[in-house]
Order: sequence, then structure tokens, then C-alpha cells
Amino acid sequence: MVYVTESVDGRIASKVGYSKFSCKYDLIRLHKVRAEVDAIVVGANTVIRDDPLLTVRYVEVDKQPIRVIIDGYLRIPLNSRVVTDKTSKTIIFTSDKAPKDKVEKLRSLGIQVFVLGEGPLIRISDVLNILCKELGVKKVLAEGGGTLLWHFFKEGLVDEVRVTISPYVVGGVNAISMVMGEGFNDERDLFRLELIKVEICRCGGEVHIVYKKV
Ligand SMILES: NC(=O)c1ccc[n+]([C@@H]2O[C@H](COP(=O)([O-])OP(=O)(O)OC[C@H]3O[C@@H](n4cnc5c(N)ncnc54)[C@H](OP(=O)(O)O)[C@@H]3O)[C@@H](O)[C@H]2O)c1
Repeated sequence: MVYVTESVDGRIASKVGYSKFSCKYDLIRLHKVRAEVDAIVVGANTVIRDDPLLTVRYVEVDKQPIRVIIDGYLRIPLNSRVVTDKTSKTIIFTSDKAPKDKVEKLRSLGIQVFVLGEGPLIRISDVLNILCKELGVKKVLAEGGGTLLWHFFKEGLVDEVRVTISPYVVGGVNAISMVMGEGFNDERDLFRLELIKVEICRCGGEVHIVYKKV
């Protein structure tokens, strides 16, 4: 499943990396979804830019989801909160392009690091297979950013999309859209969605939309 909060013009972050578009009700909604999944996946830039905790905080949860970072060059800082915070387990998927001493350092800090192939690109289907087989992960939430989500969509691995539209226009060729990458071409390969639900947020300014893959 994908969950993003975006501006009216489809941006999930501005050109300077500002991405705090959620109202308090949207944060609760996101954390309810986090509480329903076994793992939350984000790309390296999201960790570098936002330093998120990626834990469930606004609702009760029996077990925190695993935090999964996709980072082909292993660029995330060692003092990132996903590394230092021990509320939940963190797993990093990287490639042979990663500095070996950094892989070892992260492992010594209790982080599980999988090195998958030459890289820098990692197949998301390989990541999901490992998560399923080795860690029993069944339900995954991909939160972004746009580059990571492109790989999820490109590999056809998204079954549900939840989008909250916030009342902002961000603009800018260098702002981050919900899906980046090279993009699809036309009706032969566009990723098709079926509208399931539309709700107006309790804040009165946001719309939350649920789609399923056709
Ligand atoms: N509004 C929202 O809901 C929301 C949610 C999440 C994030 N965001 C925003 O999104 C922005 C970041 O988005 P972004 O598109 O720049 O970056 P991103 O998707 O967070 O991270 C991209 C990086 O992740 C790694 N990566 C992703 N897919 C990979 C793959 N298949 N194989 C290997 N590595 C892969 C690569 O790191 P390497 O270069 O190390 O290979 C790539 O450069 C941030 O500003 C954040 O605030 C917003």
C-alpha cells in the first residue's frame, strides 16, 4: 500500500524539501495505517531530508512495524533516528556500491543490512521476497519519496493507494512529485487505479482518497 500527503499540484515536498502538509487528523490517519502493516518502506532521501522516526505514535499498537530503508549507495547518516532509535527494528537494503565499512558499522549498531547485487538499483520485488520469507512480513506500507514510489509502481507492486490532498500549491520543476523516475508513457502502460472512497478530512481543508489497483 502507498500513503502520501500531497499538495493540490501533486507535490509531496517542495524544492527545498519542505513536506509537512498533513493536518493533525491526517497524521492520525497515517499512523492508523502504519499500525495495520508489518513494515514501512522509505527511500534514502526521505531519511536524509526528514530524519523520520517511522514509528506508530498517535494510536495504540501491539507491535511496531519494521522500518525498511532502500539505499543503493548507503548514504543515510549513521546518526539518523532510524538508526539510533530502538523503538522498532530497522532493516536497510543496499548494494555492492555501499562502502563496506559503513555496512559493518551499521551491523555493529544492531541494524540488519542486506546487500543485494551490483546496484545501485535494487529490485523492490527482491526486497519484498526477503521481507516475506525471512521476516514474515505480509503487509507493507510505502511512504515515499517519489523516487522509491516510482520503483514500486514500475514493478507493479502497489495494490492500494491512499492520497491526502492538502490545500497548498507548491510548484517548481525541482519539487518532488508523488511519483518521480522516468514515468509511464501512455494508455498501454499507465498504472490504472479504481476509485474506492473519497472523504473530506475533519479539518475541513483536506480530501482523503482511497484507490485500489485495477
Ligand atoms: N508528503 C509525503 O507524504 C512524503 C512522504 C515521504 C517522503 N516525502 C518527501 O519526499 C522527498 C524525498 O523524495 P525523493 O524522491 O527525493 O527520494 P526517496 O524516494 O526518498 O529516496 C530516493 C533514494 O532512495 C534510494 N532508492 C529508492 N529506490 C531505490 C531502488 N529501487 N534501488 C536502490 N536505491 C533506491 C536511492 O538512494 P541511493 O542514491 O543511496 O541509491 C534514491 O536516490 C523528501 O523531501 C520527503 O520529505 C514526502
